[in-house]
Amino acid sequence: MSHRVQLFSPLRVRELETKNRVWVAPMCMYSCENRDGVVNEFHLVHYGSRSIGGAGLVMVEATAVVPEGRITPWCAGIWNDEQVVAWRRVTDSIRAGGAKSAIQLAHAGRKASTHRAQSGSGSVDIADGGWQTVSATSEAFEGYAAPRQLTTREVEELPAAFAAAAARSVRAGFDAIEIHAAHGYLLHQFLSPITNRREDQYGGSLENRARLLLDVVKAIREVIPNEMPLMIRFSATDYREDGWDQAQTAEVARWAAELGADLFDISSGGLITGVKIPSGPGYQVPLAEFVADRVEQPVSAVGQITEAAQAEAILQAGLVDVIMLARAELRDPYWPLRAAAELGAEVDWPIQYVRGMWPKG
Ligand SMILES: Cc1cc2nc3c(=O)[nH]c(=O)nc-3n(C[C@H](O)[C@H](O)[C@H](O)COP(=O)(O)O)c2cc1C
Repeated sequence: MSHRVQLFSPLRVRELETKNRVWVAPMCMYSCENRDGVVNEFHLVHYGSRSIGGAGLVMVEATAVVPEGRITPWCAGIWNDEQVVAWRRVTDSIRAGGAKSAIQLAHAGRKASTHRAQSGSGSVDIADGGWQTVSATSEAFEGYAAPRQLTTREVEELPAAFAAAAARSVRAGFDAIEIHAAHGYLLHQFLSPITNRREDQYGGSLENRARLLLDVVKAIREVIPNEMPLMIRFSATDYREDGWDQAQTAEVARWAAELGADLFDISSGGLITGVKIPSGPGYQVPLAEFVADRVEQPVSAVGQITEAAQAEAILQAGLVDVIMLARAELRDPYWPLRAAAELGAEVDWPIQYVRGMWPKG
């Protein structure tokens, strides 16, 4: 073979080594049926299956650091010990399947307290178990209830909430942590000049808009082991000229790296409605490459990556280090095992599954 298959080469970040570079992207399952943020058997089977399917790392869904940070009442949380015990079973299940695990720590801000697809659309009324949302701003996301603007004092308290959730994530057995600063959720609401017009130290200059995220990075780094990777998911653009963009993303990523962030997971959009998103196969890869070109740390690409050859070509181009798959992994948890066969990479199958190996024996 002329060159080694990149997709199935290991990646080391701090002391964590993943066996390959196909990672499962975070995906909300909206399935904590008791509305208490406690994950259950569904999550255990769902995440465990994706681990057995051969992914190098399985990142679990956006998990709220405080109750009001949930996107929907059915979203997962990690603000109490009952949730830690439940997550522990999920991380054990991921480990048993052979993958590393990561958790995406999140606060939905003004996009919290919404319906899941099967319950309706828009905001959940307070009378029906919804809550008053909070944000950098008091302006609503189109179609949702208006948030209350957080006071300076309240913003100052948020890094400690993220850090407490990170400490619980370590106890729950996760191998890595990702901060969700993308898709129009709270940290993105602070980063973008469209939603952040604050006049305190958290608004105005890029440094001020990034202050909350950077304080979160610092606070988390203080409570997690030195050998554990800390990643950040960014939306690298709001697709609007006066918004957040790739240059600001790269700049803030560099500041975050100085404080101990280790990998940047590059997505886009989600802050506002009514913008044109040029979607198509691999449409966010150029954004990931832009950032990768400007930081020392590894970068992951995500978004309409569905084919093994496509994923391999993105890595062979030399800038991006990791491929994250979301919907392709919903369709087929065995995507990585099939991709390895397609690319001619030798990978270990779960010993129990060897008789099913591709190509069919
Ligand atoms: C069901 C579903 C839930 C998602 N939940 C999250 C989430 O919790 N956090 C996040 O950052 N992105 C979330 N996403 C976005 C995915 O991680 C990914 O960035 C996006 O789907 C594009 O990748 P794909 O084309 O491989 O699906 C979700 C996507 C789907 C389909």
